[in-house]
This record gives sequence, structure tokens and C-alpha cells, in this order.
Amino acid sequence: MAALPWLLLLLLSQEGETDWYSGDGADPEEVVGILRESVSLPLEMPFDEEVENIIWSSHIRLATVVPETEGHPATIMVTDPHYEGRVNFLEPTYSLHIQNLSWEDSGSYQAQVNLRTSQVSTMQQYNLRIYRRLSQPYMTVNFGIPGEEGACNMSLICSVENAGLDVTYTWISWEDGAETAHEGSILRAFWRPGDKAVSYSCRASNPVSNITSHPIQAGSFCADPGYPLEKASTSFCLLAKGLLILLLFGTLAVGFWFLRVQTRGKAPRMRKLKRNRMRLRKKGQPGPSLN
Ligand SMILES: *[C@@H]1O[C@H](CO)[C@@H](O)[C@H](O)[C@H]1NC(C)=O
Ligand SMILES: *[C@@H]1O[C@H](CO)[C@@H](O)[C@H](O)[C@H]1NC(C)=O
Ligand SMILES: *[C@@H]1O[C@H](CO)[C@@H](O)[C@H](O)[C@H]1NC(C)=O
Repeated sequence: MAALPWLLLLLLSQEGETDWYSGDGADPEEVVGILRESVSLPLEMPFDEEVENIIWSSHIRLATVVPETEGHPATIMVTDPHYEGRVNFLEPTYSLHIQNLSWEDSGSYQAQVNLRTSQVSTMQQYNLRIYRRLSQPYMTVNFGIPGEEGACNMSLICSVENAGLDVTYTWISWEDGAETAHEGSILRAFWRPGDKAVSYSCRASNPVSNITSHPIQAGSFCADPGYPLEKASTSFCLLAKGLLILLLFGTLAVGFWFLRVQTRGKAPRMRKLKRNRMRLRKKGQPGPSLN
């Protein structure tokens, strides 16, 4: 007889529990955002039923949204100070919109939609990944041991400053208008005088951007290893060196001329003095003799 209240309690407690299921599948939706820009996590409302509230959370509860009902505007309470002033909720489903993304915003997000009439909740999961927009790639040329007759063997290396994760590099070479792509950040190339002009450019891509460098020519590198990255500075250096040498010679020439003019005036007096001294020595006591 004592079993009956227990059974009743068990049934009641089960009824009181919320049934969980998540959207279409268990896998979170992958969302990609750009650093310092904004992103939306789209929320679907699968029911025609009235929604009591929506709870958005990340590591902790982010915000609670109570949708508008007749006569009452929606109420939104942002509970995580990290998102204060940076989030809004896009109607009609109150999708989460985050502005000015930072690296700390990446990770998992959940939206829990609680329905007014039934005890059923839906849970939607997201995984937000954040990338930086890539800047112009750098190209570095490493020369191998120079071969015979001006042939050169080089490694072209492509890199991007603060590249971050998931960056792929592709070298594109053009020869006779035909384009060839080589995956990877390092490309080995061989060139000898008389070879056709081959242009190379590098493309860096990540999930939010791709950027291609200006083309460079292999032959120019081989003929003049400073080209074109240092060409301007090299010629400037040569010019500066030339000017400095000119200036040095100029000063030296002026200096010599000045000295000559001065010594020409002094020379006769000095000679006379020396002669007088010699004469004095001859007249005076003779120097000690060795004999
Ligand atoms: C975006 O966030 C950074 C810090 O994460 C802040 O320095 C910057 O001022 C913010 N920009 C805007 C437009 O709010
Ligand atoms: C270029 O250099 C690499 C090593 O740096 C070497 O393995 C390769 O044989 C060289 N190629 C030619 C054509 O000299
Ligand atoms: C590169 O980005 C542009 C937009 O900036 C896009 O249209 C293009 O498809 C992208 N190309 C690759 C290979 O990712």
C-alpha cells in the first residue's frame, strides 16, 4: 500500500522535468567571425507556440530575452558584462548579434528556447571561430649555391604577419600566359639566363579572406639579387655613398690647396733660420771629435 504515493511522486517529478532536445542534430553549428567585425548566430524557432523566454549563454549565461507579447515590449537582460553594449537580438527570432569581436568571443554558444505552454525546451548549439583578415603576404627569396653561367636556384618563401590559424599559401607562376598553382608556402625555382620570364605571386587564404601579392620575376632576382625588394634602397645607398665620396674628395682638395698656400709663404723664412743656425754652430765651439 505504501508503494502508491511513491509511484505518484515519481510520476510527478518526471512530469516536472524538462524534456531536452537540440535542433536538427547534436552537432553545433559552425559560425565564422572576423576580428573587430560583427557576427550573427541565427536562431530558429521550430514551434508556433508561444515562447516564454530565450536564454543565450556562452561559458556563462549571456542574456535572457522575453519576447514581446501583445501590449508588452520585449525585455532583454544582458548578464555577462563581457558582452555589455556589444550585443543585440535580431527580430523576429532574437538571433544573437555580436559586434566588435575579440579573440575571447570564440568558443561555444547555446540558445535555450523555453516554451510557455509545454514543458519542452529546445537547445541550439553554435561554435564560433574568429579569424583576422589577412594582410598583404611577404615574399622572401633565398638563393642556393650559384650554378654555372649565372644560373640560379632559389627558394621563394611566402608569409603573412600575424597570420593565425588555418592559413593556406599558394604560389602562382605564369609562363607564356599559362598559370600554374603550387600549394605550400615554399616554392623552389630554377632560372638561367636565356630562360623565359616567369612571374610569381603568392596567395594567402584563411576562412574569411584571401589576398594575392604583386607578381615578381625570377630573372630579375637572379640578375640582381636585391631586386625588387631592396632595389630602391640599394640605388639610394649607392647615390649616398657617391655623394659622400665626392664630398670627402672636395674637402681634401680644398684642404691641400689651403695648406700649400700657407706653406708657400712660410718656407723661405724657415730655410733662412735653419741656415743661420748651421752657420752659428760652425762658428762656435766645434762638436766633440771622435778622434
Ligand atoms: C573594439 O574592442 C576593442 C577591444 O577589444 C576596443 O579597443 C575598441 O575600441 C573597440 N572598438 C569599438 C568600435 O568599439
Ligand atoms: C637547387 O638546390 C637544391 C638544394 O638547395 C638542390 O637539391 C637542387 O639540386 C638544386 N637544383 C639545381 C638545378 O641546381
Ligand atoms: C577570395 O576572396 C574573394 C572575396 O574577397 C572571393 O570572391 C573569392 O572567391 C576568394 N577566392 C578564394 C580562392 O578563396
